[in-house]
This record gives sequence, C-alpha cells and structure tokens, in this order.
Amino acid sequence: MNPEVIAAPARMRERSRSAHARGLRVGFVPTMGYLHEGHMSLVRRARSECSFTVVSIFVNPAQFGPGEDFDRYPRDLHRDLDMLRRAEADVVFHPEVSDLYPAGAEAHRTWVAVKGLSEALCGAPGRRGPAHFRGVTTAVAKLLNIVEPDAAFFGQKDAQQALIVQTMARELNMSARIEICPTVREADGLAMSSRNKYLSEAERAAAPAIYRALSGAVEAAASGESSPRALLERVRAALAGEPLFRTEYVELVELSDLKPVQGEAIHGRALLAVAGRLGQTRLIDNVIVAVKD
Ligand code: PAJ
Repeated sequence: MNPEVIAAPARMRERSRSAHARGLRVGFVPTMGYLHEGHMSLVRRARSECSFTVVSIFVNPAQFGPGEDFDRYPRDLHRDLDMLRRAEADVVFHPEVSDLYPAGAEAHRTWVAVKGLSEALCGAPGRRGPAHFRGVTTAVAKLLNIVEPDAAFFGQKDAQQALIVQTMARELNMSARIEICPTVREADGLAMSSRNKYLSEAERAAAPAIYRALSGAVEAAASGESSPRALLERVRAALAGEPLFRTEYVELVELSDLKPVQGEAIHGRALLAVAGRLGQTRLIDNVIVAVKD
C-alpha cells in the first residue's frame, strides 16, 4: 500500500495522535530525501521496533549556509515514495518550506542550539560553522513536536548530529527516545550519502580512500596503538596519498563531549572523524576506535 503523504503539520500531528489512540507505537525517521540504503536501514529499524512508521522528507533551508548546496541538493520524491512504499512506511511527512517556516527560514526567530557540541568538528568556524547544527536542531525539534513519536532514528554516519540531537532531546525533556543506528556503506566502504551523487567517476573511484584511512586506524588501535598523535598521523598520511581528496579535518574526540582526546593514550573508546572534499563535494565519515587493553 502507498504510504499516506501529508504536508500540513496540523494534519500530521492528528494522524500521529490517532495512531497513539489506537495503541500503536510511533517510530519516526527524519530525512532530507533522495533516499538510499542508509536511510532505509533506519526505516527498517523503526518498523522493527514500532507499529506505525513516519518518515519525513524535508530539505531544511535553515541548516544550509549561504554558499552551500540547498538549491541543488538532490530531490526525487517519486523515487523516494516508491522506496518507502516497498519498505511499508505508513506516513510520509513532506511539508513545504512555508509549512515549517511561514516567514521564511531567515525570518525565523526561535532557535534551539546545543552549546559546545555544535562548535566542535563540523561546527568549527571556517567549516560548516555552529549555525549549521542550530538549523538541524531547530528543524528536528519542530519535527518531533509535530510527529510526537515514541522513538526517532538517526544514523551514526552523522555522529555529531546524532549526539547533538540526543543531547537536545534529553536536556529539553522531550519524550522521544533517540536511537542511533550503524553506518551503511557501499561494497567498497564508502559511506552512503545523498551527496555521493555529485561525485564524478574519478572522484567516486577515489572516495573509498576515506574509509580505508579510518579502517587503518581502527586496526592499528586494535593491535595496541593507543597514541592519539600516532593514530591521527596515520589517517592524515593515508588521506594525503589520495591526490583528489582535500582534507578539511581529521580529529580524534571523546564520545561524550566531542573534545579532542587529551594525553598520550586513548582510554576505552573515541570517535575518529574525517571531513574533506572531492572536487566540490564535501564528504564526512567516522569510526569508533577502541584500544586493546
Ligand atoms: P539526511 O542526510 O537525509 O539523513 C537522514 C538520516 O539518515 C540521518 O539520521 C543520517 O545520519 C542517516 N544516514 C545518512 N546516511 C547514512 C548511512 N550511510 N548509514 C546510516 N544512516 C545514514 O541528516 C539529515 O538528513 C538532516 O540533517 C535531518 C536530520 C533530516 C534534519 O534536517
């Protein structure tokens, strides 16, 4: 059966409330569309844990900076709906920009920002900047208020976003459980992303270098290399070996607060995150590094 497509926030909330009234558990997967297997893994997880699944498709202008790709972000609603029909999603929430930002995103006045975490990694000045995550958290807060899910599902692919959303939900006493699901990759290791569509053939062929570099560090740590400096050096050197890739950052940070791992050795687990460009396309990826005791 085709999922019901809803654009109006009030109608969406009504639909969720009637599912709740029937005793159903509402699972929610927020997306910007142009769906791939990474998104679909979240939909399957929602379906397995909940009895009513809502997927939103909304390219959120508030999280794109002035020079970024809002206008050319890939969109294909027809294909997305076909995938969601096959995955048996119940409702697709597909608002217009004017449904969520009646005066336009620039004129929006109420913002949700998670301090500290939003300025780390991709949020540092000169990168996407903290305004990016303020745009994400504001949109996700609005979506959670409209859909009122029992659980919402996010990907580890965007580890910083997932941690920020989890922190927001906890600190604002939101009722939804925020669940984080593993990164889905292409056969050659490239993390799936809607933006992979932008890559030329040569760039696509170069892209697996990112995960190869990260995997090298995971293996080194598993064999006992615990020095943050040595691990970072290893990833930077591996990435430098791919001439098409321009590294924006390689960082090893604490999983709790995204602060750089201090000291001579990692204790337990840490997040190793990379961002950079292949041509004009900005890609990110990350892994969790665990040092052998
Ligand atoms: P989007 O990039 O469409 O991603 C939607 C969700 O899918 C996010 O939780 C993201 O982490 C997850 N995802 C993307 N690629 C994945 C992969 N390869 N494996 C597993 N999960 C993956 O992230 C956004 O949209 C937006 O910022 C949004 C949260 C919808 C707010 O506008």
